[in-house]
Amino acid sequence: MLVNFRNILNEAYHNNYAIGSFNVYNYETFKGVIEAGTETGVPVMLAFGEKYLKNMTLETAYTLARSLGGELPIPISLHLDHCSDLNTVFRAIRAGFGSVMYDGSALPFEENLKNTKLVCQIAHACGVSVEAELGCLAAGEHSHEGLASDVEVYTEPELAKRFVEATQVDALAVSIGTVHGMYKIKPNLRIDILEKIQKLLKIPLVLHGGSGLAEQEILSCIDRGIAKINVNTEISLYAVEKTANLLAEKKPHLSEVSLSQIDSVRSIVKKYIAFFSSQKST
Ligand code: 13P
Repeated sequence: MLVNFRNILNEAYHNNYAIGSFNVYNYETFKGVIEAGTETGVPVMLAFGEKYLKNMTLETAYTLARSLGGELPIPISLHLDHCSDLNTVFRAIRAGFGSVMYDGSALPFEENLKNTKLVCQIAHACGVSVEAELGCLAAGEHSHEGLASDVEVYTEPELAKRFVEATQVDALAVSIGTVHGMYKIKPNLRIDILEKIQKLLKIPLVLHGGSGLAEQEILSCIDRGIAKINVNTEISLYAVEKTANLLAEKKPHLSEVSLSQIDSVRSIVKKYIAFFSSQKST
């Protein structure tokens, strides 16, 4: 069934686990993520980013999510990932998305706050949840979501408190040392900053840049309020590598390539679901 992310995130937040938010942009990614959720019996988020509008429209993304996941017993949330354009955010709400991420993190604080507040007022009136971001992630290797020139700006806990109180956002993405893309060296996660944020805010926190994090790093973030973790790059790298191997072996029919890609997506998503829910209290 398709749900709004508020219920599944709050449940995860209070029971010491995290929901995986996996990027989707074609049939194979939608199908692979949904199959991974079904096989593990765990709710999943289908994260469709603004930059994938070249791959499909918001309306097609909603139709695909509904057709593949609408009748399933596990909760599935179709989420608009990283969107800096207010018009696209409002169009996603209209198209049927259960949650939206308005990303004003590149804007000055007051402007980000003003826009996020507006998004929350409209989204909440439509029964849609909102994620926002404060601070800024750098880009790692193979990043699809940032530039090598991006400078990491950590989230400031006191500002985060002011931001959440003023906007009434449902979940906040924090910058504590993760990067978008694969890590070149072991990440230096600022658990101290996360702890301060968690003490000041009583809402689910979001960790972007999940690809390549070790299980232990993930678990210590979940212990400190992270209830949603985003994964994109590793799924794509793995599926592309498997596709390249298949093509090196033979000249397969395109339908076979599609099945192999669904399989690749499903296996990486299942790996992360196992990490994210390993401390789940029953
Ligand atoms: P990775 O590509 O590093 O997994 O990050 C995904 C992400 O944060 C999507 O918003």
